[in-house]
Amino acid sequence: MILVTGGAGFIGSNFVLDWLAEHEEGLVNLDALTYAGNLQNLASLAGQTARHFFVQGDIGDASVAALLRTHAIRAVVNFAAESHVDRSIHAPAAFIETNVVGTFRLLESVRAYWHALDAERKAAFRFLHVSTDEVYGSLGATDPAFTETHAVAPNSPYSASKAASDHLVRAYHHTYGLPVLTTNCSNNYGPYHFPEKLIPLCIHNALAGKPLPIYGDGLQVRDWLYVKDHCSAIRRVLAAGRVGEVYNIGGNQEKTNLDTIHTLCDTLDRLQPRADGVSYRTQMVFVTDRPGHDRRYAIDAAKIRAELGWVPAETFETGLEKTVQWYLAHQGWVQNVTSGAYRHWIGLQYADQDRPP
Ligand code: NAD
Ligand code: DAU
Repeated sequence: MILVTGGAGFIGSNFVLDWLAEHEEGLVNLDALTYAGNLQNLASLAGQTARHFFVQGDIGDASVAALLRTHAIRAVVNFAAESHVDRSIHAPAAFIETNVVGTFRLLESVRAYWHALDAERKAAFRFLHVSTDEVYGSLGATDPAFTETHAVAPNSPYSASKAASDHLVRAYHHTYGLPVLTTNCSNNYGPYHFPEKLIPLCIHNALAGKPLPIYGDGLQVRDWLYVKDHCSAIRRVLAAGRVGEVYNIGGNQEKTNLDTIHTLCDTLDRLQPRADGVSYRTQMVFVTDRPGHDRRYAIDAAKIRAELGWVPAETFETGLEKTVQWYLAHQGWVQNVTSGAYRHWIGLQYADQDRPP
């Protein structure tokens, strides 16, 4: 079996569903079920307990070592993290605790387990660390896209905590020989995306008749990748990536936030027009900018394409269409995750805006 951490979150749950659809091999899913973890994402696996073994727990807990031994784990895919930049600005402590200290403790459990394996299983073992393009910092308008050798220059508590975890993973390979792989991916979107992030927040607010909040001038650029393409890239790196290497993952789909929300509104106008016939674009509102807001991210994915033959299946337009269709068909899921705790966050984050969503 493999161990997936954070497999009840957005990307982790998509990975778990895709893995079990594509492989005979089962997995252990370790997730602390923070506000971002949701077992409803995995409801379609009910009854598959032999292949999907869910454990509620913290990656930093010492009991992870026993979990690795009990299930004779042959690979770990580490998604578990605090992942929202705005939350890291309001309350960074949890980001240090999970992303830095939690990853360190997980590496210690894995190192002890791996050390005791026989030579054959030791050589075959992999620790794949899922990271982000945000560790590279912000690009100017005409700068070339991030390659794997770009300087690390994180700008938010979130990206600094992810960069710290990337460094630890690298060090465990260099010092102890742990067979690690690291992936740095651009912005994901798709099913099960928690509606605190730009795209699912704006789908939710649009349908609820609420404002679509655009930070600052809306000209920040993100490089969007459909989540299923991220999952296929991770599977490919796990299967064939060179130990100790870093692989950037991206869809080559750079968009300004304004372009992203325009395309989103146009898609909604087509698939679920407003009763009054007016475009959802009229709900867009410019609000106060994010402190330290990175201007542009762009991923150069040449390495994973050349070495491992991975290319994304979706463009931004095809992926967004699938995403909007998914949200329209899963309004019950949205209702359930936009609970009291969610409303508390929205109140906090957008409190000082002229028209809070
Ligand atoms: P998410 O916030 O949706 O999910 C995180 C999951 O981790 C949740 O299920 C949560 O319960 C779990 N978790 C949190 N702390 C934990 C702990 N201490 N122990 C065990 N489980 C814990 O995040 P996501 O968007 O799915 O991101 C997954 C990973 O991918 C993160 O490492 C993130 O940095 C990285 N990443 C995300 C994106 C993106 O666009 N969302 C892009 C590139 C990389
Ligand atoms: O680049 C990869 C990263 O992408 C991941 O590592 C993070 O986990 C993930 O959250 C995401 O970070 P971003 O900060 O880029 O994503 P977010 O959806 O929060 O914001 C996308 C852009 O939209 C960003 O420029 C900020 C802007 N934005 C966001 C929100 C929530 C708005 O203009 N209004 C909003 O209300």
